Amino acid sequence: MQNDLRAFWMPFTANRQFKASPRMFVAADGMHYTTADGRQVLDGTSGLWCCNAGHNQPKIVEAIRQQAGELDYAPAFQIGHPKAFQLATRLVDMAPDGIEHAFFTNSGSESVETALKIAIAYHRARGEGQRTRLIGRERGYHGVNFGGISVGGIVSNRKVFGSLLTGVDHLPDTHLPELNAFTKGQPEHGAERADALEKIIALHGAETIAAVIVEPMAGSTGVLLPPKGYLQRLREITKKHGILLIFDEVITGFGRLGSSFAAEHFGVMPDLMVTAKGLTNGVIPMGAVLTTAEIHDAFMTGPQNLIELFHGYTYSGNPIASAAGLATLEVYKEQGLFENAAALESYWQEAIHALRGLPHVVDIRNMGLIGAIELEPIAGAPTKRAFQAFLDAFEAGLLIRTTGDIIALSPPLIINKAQIDELFGTLSQILKGLD
Ligand SMILES: Cc1ncc(COP(=O)(O)O)c(C=O)c1O
Repeated sequence: MQNDLRAFWMPFTANRQFKASPRMFVAADGMHYTTADGRQVLDGTSGLWCCNAGHNQPKIVEAIRQQAGELDYAPAFQIGHPKAFQLATRLVDMAPDGIEHAFFTNSGSESVETALKIAIAYHRARGEGQRTRLIGRERGYHGVNFGGISVGGIVSNRKVFGSLLTGVDHLPDTHLPELNAFTKGQPEHGAERADALEKIIALHGAETIAAVIVEPMAGSTGVLLPPKGYLQRLREITKKHGILLIFDEVITGFGRLGSSFAAEHFGVMPDLMVTAKGLTNGVIPMGAVLTTAEIHDAFMTGPQNLIELFHGYTYSGNPIASAAGLATLEVYKEQGLFENAAALESYWQEAIHALRGLPHVVDIRNMGLIGAIELEPIAGAPTKRAFQAFLDAFEAGLLIRTTGDIIALSPPLIINKAQIDELFGTLSQILKGLD
């Protein structure tokens, strides 16, 4: 049967462009994908920021195979299975001190919705049911469900979808290119952008606000790093006013910055952490919301036989996903992948900043094993230049990700120096050839 491309409405894809000239992967191993026409493509993006341990890790593959033959599915409500409990324990063990519980979901978007709902319900459980307002940030990405796009700040992800959630405000983003362009690591300027929170609080009254949600490092909008002191300031203000702080660690979790989580990396402890992606190395869909005991315990009241939180998914803690998660965390540890990311950070930093001065490059940003190269948009045709870079890179055997006119890079943490050289060598040739 001919492979007809019409039926599949592809997500976040230029469908007509794609179907006119499809790009297909048929296999993956280690740092590489194999295309349908047999070419090797270096994975510069860990798939979609998720395959932190690279592809085809034998331990993960085997755990999934074995689990599928042993216990394929167990009801998620009112029944348990051992691996979900083991994984929750492993997760809270690797999270910063104070995080003691994990609620399982199937994606980053679901983790975001779950965290927002827990935050609002937590206040209600404590007798502060009027705290329902949510605060996100401009340019933030928190997935694509209604809560997530409401607190999110990427205009194209919001504007055609109606009125969204009410009672949502946004902090300004932290991108200050005129002050911070070409900074290596955390930028110096912009901590005061957190003070906008005081203004929002003054406008509405702290007693109406449930939570602030931010990505500690904004990934999908094009790698915007937190200015020095910014996250600390957000933590101080939220704490002072009894507002929960939610870190969306869907990208920053599981070694991307060279530590388990950004909370640990920046030394700032949120009340809730949103995770997904690297939790299972992207191999099986799974997410988790991590919380403090204080939040969890606020729900554990009333008669023992009553459900404490009316929320959950058919696949929360799914056995195969749990097995994949357990194997993934073991692989990270056994192969020292977070340490590898930390050890390569300075090499990565110098390699990406060596692209400064190439045509159209207006900023370069980096931290851990993540980086962004911002291009000057073509006048009247925003996104076109970066998209051309994406297409050229694919042809040249390199997978990059673009958002607007920004190229974002986040390779698997198994990468080595020679592969970093190859990645930036290819990319610099592509940049030199762009219109
Ligand atoms: C910070 C952040 N939150 C949430 C999401 C949504 O995750 P998913 O696509 O698994 O729903 C993403 C995805 O890139 C993300 O980067």
